[in-house]
Amino acid sequence: MTDEIHKGLAGVVVDTTAVSKVNPDTNSLLYRGYPVQELAATQPFEAVAHLLWHGELPSDEELARLGAAERAYRSLAPEVRAAIDLVPVSAHPMDDVRTAISVIGACDASGGGSVLEASGSRETNIDRAIRLYAQLPAIVAYGQRRRRGEDLVAPRDDLDYAANFLWMTFGTEPDPVVVDAFNSSMILYAEHSFNASTFTARVITSTMSDLYSAVVGAVGALKGPLHGGANEAVMHVFDEIGDADSVVPWLEEALAEKRKIMGFGHRVYKHGDSRVPTMRAALETLVEHCERPDVLELYTRLESEFVARKGIYPNLDYPSGPAYNLLGFDTATFTPLFVAARVTGWTAHIMEQQASNALIRPLSQYDGPDERHVAS
Ligand code: COA
Repeated sequence: MTDEIHKGLAGVVVDTTAVSKVNPDTNSLLYRGYPVQELAATQPFEAVAHLLWHGELPSDEELARLGAAERAYRSLAPEVRAAIDLVPVSAHPMDDVRTAISVIGACDASGGGSVLEASGSRETNIDRAIRLYAQLPAIVAYGQRRRRGEDLVAPRDDLDYAANFLWMTFGTEPDPVVVDAFNSSMILYAEHSFNASTFTARVITSTMSDLYSAVVGAVGALKGPLHGGANEAVMHVFDEIGDADSVVPWLEEALAEKRKIMGFGHRVYKHGDSRVPTMRAALETLVEHCERPDVLELYTRLESEFVARKGIYPNLDYPSGPAYNLLGFDTATFTPLFVAARVTGWTAHIMEQQASNALIRPLSQYDGPDERHVAS
């Protein structure tokens, strides 16, 4: 075994996966073999969740069954709501999400009393995955609403996942154009191989811990601005710049200060992120729908000026930040939205890890003091 250190595990292949394939050379991302752009253009988010968990797109009957199971889990249990209410509204809504998932896990009777049984069967874990995927819209929507001093909105069984999510957040029936753009964003965020949060979930799973613990850990990893927190950070950049005419002076100052420009760069994609064109198209639809051409002007100017100077391309968070803003979400809600989508990918990876497990335990090279002894 070599002692070579791979800081940040960059370039290290740690396992196989059949969930998704990222090909940075061709800028492509496949979920179970299907190009993500094709899925975003043709499928409801529910079908993509089924695809990630089961490996195939659902038949009409399977989709209806998942829709019924999701609807049955949409409401928050009183314990979960009470736990969220204990989180101060001054805390970040990702803290609501992390807390709520932990309490959902603690209240799920399938958890059992013994750590030896915690990991559960595949059937149990499919049920746990559906439970989290179905309850996250309520958790995320309530996170935004309670910070605005508004009450929880009851789910509507006549609406599909994406439309119900928007309904529970805003309490108004969403326009189909808006639902489509939101549905696409959820599909684009659903899965991305061994990123930091997914790997965190797999590490926790590898100890034979339970799915809820793995998802709680993944939420913590996703919160950081170098990962999921970037979509929120992009919106702060847009707010700081203000308008397209201010891009150049802002950028020159930011680069002189060696600031990282949020929403650009990627550990794997070095020639552009395969998801950006689809999300940019969704943003354009929203810009037109909301009559906000100024947003696209700022977006385009910052992109072209930054790429010309650094040769570093936008990632998915760059178009999704302003898109979520136009949809009406508060900036702090953007990363929780990412959780609601990515929980499908995380749970698919958790089940894959369980099916072929090996404890994940890397080595380190010690560089502390040489052996020494306490003075006697
Ligand atoms: N703004 C300015 N410079 C950037 C940059 C950005 N967004 N992303 C990378 N760079 C520069 C780094 O400063 C570094 O320059 P140097 O070699 O002169 O020091 C070089 O490009 C390599 O960056 P590094 O951070 O080492 O690459 P990485 O592969 O580890 O990083 C990210 C990938 C995503 C962490 C990084 O691009 C980043 O921080 N982006 C902003 C946050 C973001 O949008 N995250 C969402 C990811 S989906």
